[in-house]
Amino acid sequence: MADANIDQRPEAATAPGEAELAEAGLRLDVDGAVATVTLDRPERRNAMTFATWRGLAAIGRSLPADVRVVVLRGAGPSFSAGIDLSMFSGGGEGFSDGADAEATDRFIAELQEGYTWLRRPEIVTVAAVQGHAIGGGFQLALACDIRVAADDAKFCMKEPALGLVPDLTGTKPLVEIVGVPRALELCLTARTVLADEAARLGLAEIVVPRDDLDKAVSDLVTALLAVDGGAAAATKRLLWQAPQNTLEEQCAAERTEQIGRLRALFGSRTS
Ligand code: ACO
Repeated sequence: MADANIDQRPEAATAPGEAELAEAGLRLDVDGAVATVTLDRPERRNAMTFATWRGLAAIGRSLPADVRVVVLRGAGPSFSAGIDLSMFSGGGEGFSDGADAEATDRFIAELQEGYTWLRRPEIVTVAAVQGHAIGGGFQLALACDIRVAADDAKFCMKEPALGLVPDLTGTKPLVEIVGVPRALELCLTARTVLADEAARLGLAEIVVPRDDLDKAVSDLVTALLAVDGGAAAATKRLLWQAPQNTLEEQCAAERTEQIGRLRALFGSRTS
């Protein structure tokens, strides 16, 4: 079943202010039903800090209720070069040494919240990936429902090469998309997957020339918004739980969702 804590839009929180977003290296533009989140440190290839992940979580908590599509994009030549490596310098003082396992667990869970909201059913999330999507950047693209890639996109799960594991929610979608053996091969070699291979593996749904990326994303958003919002949310709930469900469970889930749809569409007839 879908995870309860990502299944519902939380009580709307206060939107992060300009200063908080700037510190996080993020930009947020909301235009009616579409929110665009831009990773906005192009001079650092949109490398991400703890503030970035907290900022993403804050955006997720405060998303206006009428937003139906969220686009994640990166300013400049790359989507994101992953964690800001300067955080490792000076012995990585900002990092826990893991000695207090509970505190470290809470800390990482808080950062993961920057990613998990992207699976909420009432929104469809689209990553627009050009250039590098490395480590935490690759995981951010994986956290989205759909990836549109430019033909210069390069995906790399770098964490094991740095002695770490991917812990920003990426292992689950990666395995869901490519299966365990391919996920192992990609992670344990930390090799780079180019756009054409990404398309073959299902890591990108659409690949377009670099100059056409914005147009391709815009066309996709238009198509997504043309579908009934309630049906979209119900279908997203169904599709994301399908891999975990037995056929019987999935059939039951389909019936439940369809009853909800029928009530929404035709309920006024009986009232
Ligand atoms: N953290 C901090 N700064 C970065 C990062 C990063 N992850 N990536 C790039 N930058 C900086 C560079 O240091 C450089 O700064 P400078 O202009 O002061 O020298 C600037 O961004 C531009 O980077 P270049 O390397 O010059 O750009 P290029 O386009 O040639 O290469 C690439 C881009 C391939 C992304 C390269 O910068 C790179 O390999 N970065 C490191 C990627 C990495 O290992 N990330 C960690 C992943 S693991 C995780 O996310 C948990």
